[in-house]
Amino acid sequence: MSVRIEKVEESELKTKPDEKALGFGAHFTDHMLVMSYREGAGWQEPVIKKYGDFSLDPAAMVLHYGQAIFEGLKAYRGKDDQIFLFRPADNLRRMNDSATRMCMPNIPVDEILAAMQRLLDLDRAWVPGAAGASLYIRPTMIATEAALGVRPSREYLFFVILSPVGAYYPEGFNPVKIYVTDKYVRAVKGGVGNVKTAGNYAASIMAALEAQEKGYTQVLWLDAIERRYVEEIGTSNIFFMINDELVTPALSGSILPGITRDSVIKLAGSWGIKVVERAIAIDEVIAALADGSLQEIFASGTAAVISPVGALNYKGTEYAVNGETTGPLAQRLFDELQGIQFGDRQDDFGWRVPID
Ligand SMILES: Cc1ncc(COP(=O)(O)O)c(C=O)c1O
Repeated sequence: MSVRIEKVEESELKTKPDEKALGFGAHFTDHMLVMSYREGAGWQEPVIKKYGDFSLDPAAMVLHYGQAIFEGLKAYRGKDDQIFLFRPADNLRRMNDSATRMCMPNIPVDEILAAMQRLLDLDRAWVPGAAGASLYIRPTMIATEAALGVRPSREYLFFVILSPVGAYYPEGFNPVKIYVTDKYVRAVKGGVGNVKTAGNYAASIMAALEAQEKGYTQVLWLDAIERRYVEEIGTSNIFFMINDELVTPALSGSILPGITRDSVIKLAGSWGIKVVERAIAIDEVIAALADGSLQEIFASGTAAVISPVGALNYKGTEYAVNGETTGPLAQRLFDELQGIQFGDRQDDFGWRVPID
């Protein structure tokens, strides 16, 4: 599959934002990748073109029935201005799992990865060089057929946009306070919580707002049936260090299989730490906090890499975790993962992909 490139003229390139004040998801680069699909014809030639608006029929099925999926990964600027991706094929494969669940067509992973590399090469000047900053990559697919009636769309648009983002922790780690909700649920087994479909995020906003009103950064989600087993924190996976064992909820069907989660499991295992994937009840977490056997809690995800949890509110009581400081394992994992992502540390697992 070839890629058509419609390069933006030098005179039309955007002015780049101040690298010290990027924030998250506020700026977009000069180019984007688009590819359309029609039942019977399949995917059309991908095109890299000027970033800009789409024209969408008001009856486009995504606007009514929500067939929309996305991914999130980053490009990092290392030494000698070498640009790296981290496990990008895993993101595209996960996108295909999302597509299958949402009755949308799969994308050709190798071809899209190659096209994405061309896009990144064209916009490589947008990959920030400031410490910890990166270029966020957002592959997306939406249903575009103009028709009403609940069924799979016969037309889709796949696109990739790029956004320079600042370091998540410009002044070092800041352990977050989380609120355990037993009022709202994120996902249920048999539903769509194990894939990245837009509706999951829309459904999570109210719980996040209520937690923020109470002074908490994130929601800790429990299982939807018993409201007992821990699932995820906000839009990231969760880990507990209990009695020198690293415990994370097993992928039960309602948890997103995070690529950072998988990387944490593999790295910790390679360091000789016992890692256990199993169901973990919130009562067990509270009991382990009370008897001192719970050493660390942290979240894992592309945005923050590792996010230490300093406090947890359950049923109106706030519990401090590890004296509200960052634990040694969270720090070690963060340093190792960032080291691999930015090309400063050895990549024993072959996760780093350079952009030539
Ligand atoms: C619901 C949810 N859980 C977990 C994650 C973490 O996944 P990853 O490590 O692949 O970024 C994400 C982010 O993609 C997410 O949206």
